[in-house]
Amino acid sequence: MFPFEVLFPTRVLFGVGELARIGREAKTIGTKALLVTGGSSAKRTGLLDRVCSLLAGEEVPFVLFDRVEPNPRTTTVDAGAALARENGCDFIIALGGGSVMDASKAIAAAALSGRPIYDYMRGNPSGTGKDLVPVQQALPIVAVPTVAATGSEANGISVLTHWETHEKSSINGPGLIPKLAVLDPSLTYTVPPHVTAEACADIFSHLFEAYLISAEGTHVQDGFTETLIRLVAQFSRIAINEPENEEARSTLMWASTLAISPFTLGGRGAGYPLHGMEHTLSGWYDIPHGRGLAILSLPYFEQIILQDRPERLARMGRNCFGVTDEDDLGAARATIEAVSNWYRSMGITQRLSDFGITRDSLLPMARESIRIGGRGADCLTSSRPLYENEILAIYEACH
Ligand code: NZQ
Ligand code: ZN
Repeated sequence: MFPFEVLFPTRVLFGVGELARIGREAKTIGTKALLVTGGSSAKRTGLLDRVCSLLAGEEVPFVLFDRVEPNPRTTTVDAGAALARENGCDFIIALGGGSVMDASKAIAAAALSGRPIYDYMRGNPSGTGKDLVPVQQALPIVAVPTVAATGSEANGISVLTHWETHEKSSINGPGLIPKLAVLDPSLTYTVPPHVTAEACADIFSHLFEAYLISAEGTHVQDGFTETLIRLVAQFSRIAINEPENEEARSTLMWASTLAISPFTLGGRGAGYPLHGMEHTLSGWYDIPHGRGLAILSLPYFEQIILQDRPERLARMGRNCFGVTDEDDLGAARATIEAVSNWYRSMGITQRLSDFGITRDSLLPMARESIRIGGRGADCLTSSRPLYENEILAIYEACH
């Protein structure tokens, strides 16, 4: 296990009904809010009206910015930051899924600095991002997640897309960690089955990626991770079949927050290679992040992990998916089959070509994944370096 630091400063209010506290709590964070939400779901479900009344009830002044798209774009962030500055907002309330929370974090940074958000991003040709990231300061953020997926509500990461260049990459830093997260699982009762499936695939990926290529001796993190994977696989199906099942939605919500936290990741010395490959897909073709991860994960298991770390795949299968084979290679293969069956049971059956992704874009996307995710190296780091050809082979296998 490698040395690690734990920074988990977000104050978390968890439980069905906790949303009712948003007005009183908001008053302790700032004096005028930019309330950020997505284009339609919060209006359709009545949630936006509820939050507006709760804020008004406590006389919290706010300005609404209600146009964050899935896979949020830099242009949207800049518009939100301009609105916050014009109106003198001194904190941000994010009401939505990962896209809204990520956009809100970036708005919080850009509103404070007055700089375009692309200045912060890695692929920016002027290279200014190196001086601005890690982001140390931003307006304070209150996160109210309405999808259990990304863990954005308690981490310092914001994933953005610069649509003109199709760069999708993250900015991060302690300044982006929300001060407060209101985790009310009942806000996810309206999440449709396909978004629940994508969200669960994303939580799973946050858990398995670093686990499968981890340093040795991370026993606490491994046990924690395996418990969360087992629960996500189990409760995903319940949440899809019974959207208002409180136990399932609560379990998924808390699992999603913890999945991308130092409690599962600390000391592993490993990152998120599959996320590096997926962000290019959603940056180029605007596909849902979790679906992209699920599709890519099966050839990634087959071509990389089965060769390099079959004992880890086998262990995940035995401890999380009911695999019983005694020899590691057999158990590793059975694990891939079990994961594939789980995805299928949630309705994830597509190939990349089903999203209009063309074969001739696969090589440029492999190169872009390395340009953005390699952070200066000519590969992504997994159980071994993944060069252009390895990434291309994974894309091709699920095209
Ligand atoms: O856009 P609206 O109208 O709000 O609708 C959304 C969207 O269509 C809808 N939705 C959200 N809450 C709902 C709801 N529908 C019904 N009822 C509700 N309660 O769901 C759709 C998907 O929303 P989105 O926010 O895009 O999903 P998710 O939470 O999966 O976030 C995905 C984004 O987060 C990034 C991804 O790359 C992607 O851009 N990630 C952020 C991370 C982080 N900050 O740590 C890490 C992740 O690995 C990930 O990269
Ligand atoms: Zn993710």
